Amino acid sequence: MNIQVISDRAQEPAGADGYFTGNVYTRNYFHAFDPRKVALEARLFGHQAPATDKPFVYVDFGCAFGFTICLLARAMPHASFIGIDIMQRHIDGARNFARRLGLKNVRFIRAGFQELAPDDLPPIDYATAHGILSWVSADVRNALLSLVAARLKPEGIFKVSHNLPAGWSDMIGIRHLLKSSVEAGMDTQAAARRLGQLFSRAITQQGRTVAPQINDLLSKSDSYLEHEYLGEHWQPFQLSEVAGMMSAAGLNFVGPYHSSQIEAPADQRVLAVDDPMFFEDLYLIGSNRGFHMSLYSPAGQTAPDALMADPDPGEAWFSVSPDRVAREKSGKLDHILDHPALGGAIPVRDMMTDAETRAERRNTVLAAVFDPATYALNGEWQPAECDGAFELTDPALARLMSLQRDRDPGDRYMVMPATGAIASLPPFMWWILERGAGQSPDTYPDLIRSAAVNTPEPDAVARCIGRWHSQWAPWLAGQGVIRPQGGRG
Ligand SMILES: C[S@@+](CC[C@H](N)C(=O)[O-])C[C@H]1O[C@@H](n2cnc3c(N)ncnc32)[C@H](O)[C@@H]1O
Repeated sequence: MNIQVISDRAQEPAGADGYFTGNVYTRNYFHAFDPRKVALEARLFGHQAPATDKPFVYVDFGCAFGFTICLLARAMPHASFIGIDIMQRHIDGARNFARRLGLKNVRFIRAGFQELAPDDLPPIDYATAHGILSWVSADVRNALLSLVAARLKPEGIFKVSHNLPAGWSDMIGIRHLLKSSVEAGMDTQAAARRLGQLFSRAITQQGRTVAPQINDLLSKSDSYLEHEYLGEHWQPFQLSEVAGMMSAAGLNFVGPYHSSQIEAPADQRVLAVDDPMFFEDLYLIGSNRGFHMSLYSPAGQTAPDALMADPDPGEAWFSVSPDRVAREKSGKLDHILDHPALGGAIPVRDMMTDAETRAERRNTVLAAVFDPATYALNGEWQPAECDGAFELTDPALARLMSLQRDRDPGDRYMVMPATGAIASLPPFMWWILERGAGQSPDTYPDLIRSAAVNTPEPDAVARCIGRWHSQWAPWLAGQGVIRPQGGRG
């Protein structure tokens, strides 16, 4: 295994500058990078982000297999998406995926950030760099930030993620041990599993809580572990450090701010500091966070005192998945769930102009942005009848499903043709959708039993079929995924 790593390392693309390129990365969809969600998030912090219902340009810096932007491109055909990555294998996979989905509004560039000049890119409305800043060299990071600063429109938004020191303190040493073990010839997964077991036992004996990253050592793939830990430059940053780098490049912090949750005025006097970023660091350290996403823009906050001043963003709607509705009728999203349009979609406008939303409920709306079961949509919809046999409305959906057949069943995504929502379906619902088209609903129990790895209880199968008929089928029919067999689309 180590021989493989060394020989791949020998082919490291020029400009990788110590980033691990010995194996491909994982294929994931990240809903928090949906520009409709990003626009709402920016708006909550007083920044008028570019409209997402009109043409816009979205660039994903370090896109890996381009899974996220391919789904976004399918959901928003009026926008243009560009993915950039240094690894040829990622770009080949991304182009292949886009071609098989028939996408015309996404393109991929194989290049290192240092190799690109601003003129290689169009003016950008939305830029993202997810999983990049804490993993590349300072030179690569600076090249990335200069490139974004040169091409991002004044109102454009750059959303980034990075590791935070608080949640990774145990892992600084573990990463060293893992890297040394692999460099000494050990297989990555074997070394990770062994370290994970030894370390979690030691931590449990001390009565401390085992960090989620330790469990990752026990369960995650080679690809994830190698890209996370084996690069030369792995480094968690405080939020203020990232905001400082951004500011040096001409990109100003937009949000999110959490410091209102700290007793700010009194603490500020005690600490004699009035820099909000200081309190953001304090909040993130105090809550032991390991990962953070934040927004930047050349213009910074365009309307900090007029939060949500324009009540008509026009572009974004929200909806929740049937499972979420069933599970959480009285949770933190109940102002969405209780909305008269439940069963349809809620225009962001309604969420934003609600007087309560302005102050107390900002964090609740933010929670909606970060909830994977809350979907951003392109427009209104209503549930529709589809009780008997169904057919898929759109051949590209069948293609998307077949391309995802070998994914982890908890992680399969569907783009709704009528609304552009991107949803992850529970495995049972996915199986019915994938294998049940054209069949009588009487066959669904057999189909579920044959698809399940462990034979499900008869009660569980019955509950699942019940959920299909009462929740998921009307929801999927309203979203334009299925229609009654023989019906018109
Ligand atoms: C941790 S992965 C994150 C991928 C993707 N954004 C995601 O979150 O799934 C980092 C990606 O950045 C790419 N990358 C690393 N250094 C780069 C560079 N100098 N120029 C362009 N891409 C780079 C890698 O090939 C890899 O696909």
